[in-house]
Amino acid sequence: MTVNDIKKLKGKRKIVMLTAYDYPMAGAAEKAGIDIILVGDSLANVVLGLDSTKDVTMDQMIYHAKAARRGAKNTFIVGDMPFEAYQKDIRDSVKNAKRFIDEAGCDAVKLEWFQQALEATSLVIKAGIPVIGHIGLTPQTAENIGGFRVQGKDADAAKRLIEQARQFEDLGCFAILLECVPDKVAEIITGKANVPTIGIGAGPYCDGQVLVTHDMLGLFERHTPKFVKKYANVTDVMVKAFEDYKNDVLENRFPSKEHSFGINPEELKKLDKRLENG
Ligand code: KIV
Repeated sequence: MTVNDIKKLKGKRKIVMLTAYDYPMAGAAEKAGIDIILVGDSLANVVLGLDSTKDVTMDQMIYHAKAARRGAKNTFIVGDMPFEAYQKDIRDSVKNAKRFIDEAGCDAVKLEWFQQALEATSLVIKAGIPVIGHIGLTPQTAENIGGFRVQGKDADAAKRLIEQARQFEDLGCFAILLECVPDKVAEIITGKANVPTIGIGAGPYCDGQVLVTHDMLGLFERHTPKFVKKYANVTDVMVKAFEDYKNDVLENRFPSKEHSFGINPEELKKLDKRLENG
């Protein structure tokens, strides 16, 4: 999968994207044939247990992106630029985007809309790095857009989103991610854009869909947004396995012979003698 392959999927078939932050999760996504892996800054919440995505550092993102790449050698991987990578000072944006490509082996980066999003995106694209532009609910600046709520619900706000999508596309973004946008507004943006739209909480008309893996697996229980469909309850599976293990250890069922290593009986005899002789 290349940037061009992804762009060509628009209008042909849906694009399927999931987040992954480590070797086993990225490996499973690749095995399942997921088109794009996003090493999302949702890492902050679902893996590191932090309250805000703003708190995840560039070094933490690179550490996890490297692990994801080791697990999914052949999948298109997008590194999510954390707040500190470009919103503190847009002059850092190219250096940090390059780290995702050069150090972690990512294929592209994602930037959220904010006041200086166009300048930062332009710098990164001019440096030759493919970018996905993220609009709608942008968690890194949620406090400036009324909090964690659906965006573009009135005509003016919807018009602003349509304009942001057009500006990202004009700058050269190869896809636009729409988070928490009314389905009909996402349909209009998708119809106007020449590049694919990828939705999360943006209804069925987008060119692709993304979910946070820990949400759809039932592996993050603190909060599950309305737009998440749970495909499994992995926390329940883990708790059951841990309880079974605990009970096996307490009741001497584990380890059994099949999980233990033997010693040649002759060697054991020799050892006994040596111990007898001091
Ligand atoms: O960080 C993340 O997981 C995201 C979601 C919108 C997929 O950006």
